[in-house]
Amino acid sequence: MTAAPRHGVSKGPVGGAVGRREGGRTDGGAAAVVGAFADRYGERPDGVWAAPGRVNLIGEHTDYNDGFCLPMALPVAARVAARRRPDGLLRLHSAQAGGAGTELGTAALAPGTVPGWARYPAGVVWALKEAGHRVGGADVYVDSTVPTGAGLSSSAALSCAVAAAYDGLYGLDLPGPETARLAQRAEHVFAGVPCGIMDQMASVCATPGAALHLDTRTLVHRPVPFDPTVHGLGLLVLDTRVAHDLADGAYAALRAGCERAAALLGLPALRDLPAAGLPAALTRLPPELAPLVRHVVTENARVAEAVALLDAGDVPALGPVLTAGHASLRDDYRVSCAETDLAVDTALAAGALGARMTGGGFGGCVIALVPADRSTAVTAAVTTAFRAAGHAPPAVLPGDPSAGARRVW
Ligand code: GLA
Repeated sequence: MTAAPRHGVSKGPVGGAVGRREGGRTDGGAAAVVGAFADRYGERPDGVWAAPGRVNLIGEHTDYNDGFCLPMALPVAARVAARRRPDGLLRLHSAQAGGAGTELGTAALAPGTVPGWARYPAGVVWALKEAGHRVGGADVYVDSTVPTGAGLSSSAALSCAVAAAYDGLYGLDLPGPETARLAQRAEHVFAGVPCGIMDQMASVCATPGAALHLDTRTLVHRPVPFDPTVHGLGLLVLDTRVAHDLADGAYAALRAGCERAAALLGLPALRDLPAAGLPAALTRLPPELAPLVRHVVTENARVAEAVALLDAGDVPALGPVLTAGHASLRDDYRVSCAETDLAVDTALAAGALGARMTGGGFGGCVIALVPADRSTAVTAAVTTAFRAAGHAPPAVLPGDPSAGARRVW
């Protein structure tokens, strides 16, 4: 597998954005979505639900190994205005996609039959029905501020917002982890994107001012206090604008490599390999699998280390853990690329306490933990370095730990 940057088609709700993308825009609020819904469908919605994009602080490529991760929700979110329909029709419009929208019969939904962004909301309805929930049609209007293809989980935000809307419209009262599982199934089985569970759990279960410590085997989770501002710090999210796409095969190949390694070691999943057993395990693996296993085992340990530091209130000490995570993704897992490496190295040289790529890799975003008074300098340094290397300047998003899925109107 290659660590080369991808310039592919994004998988998120805007759909069809090729190569370099526009950055996230500011949130227009629920009222605008209510108005747009009414313009489109002639009536006001029954409600508006929002679900956020995420960054992962640490614990990358651990979720499909039954491991641990520590994501947090961002202020950017997908908003879904929806109204229940009695006739089983699912009508979908997106502010980003524009056009005439999509109309589907909910009785006939089947994996692989719906193209483009509509496969995520349609997949949620399919997954709910498959799980035995008595749901029918709806009019749906989507407006998302989560940039697509940036590795910020725009598709999970969309799927989780639609799941939250259906939960409200049909009075399902689903527990958070079940909502997340259904949204993941929509993406994985219906839309054909082989993601883990981290993004959906973050989008549904995150809380403001905290990261989410998640055991992806049991879905046991808890908020871990994370408020960099208390320490005079901030979390910068730098979008390299190199499009990242989970559906292009490299992610699936990594997953398969991890599963093969676990099978060779006689383990249910790589999560079951303790750090103390790593040196012996590495001698039993072929050279192409050993670095993958080393990343997963050391990354699970970094999650535990990060959680201990945050529980102790030592946010600045998180920095070196982030940077070590990046080195492991770059050298062992090999999912970094020139732009993410340049952003990390430049941010560190300009005063960041720690930095790493976040999300699936092959582009996407870098997070940097920075002293508040170095934030502008770090951003300027990365922008200058990108220009000098011939890359488009990165987009900058605020990394304030935000709320998970909720009704907003
Ligand atoms: C993507 C997937 C997640 C997770 C990350 C890597 O974001 O959707 O499930 O595997 O990559 O940590």
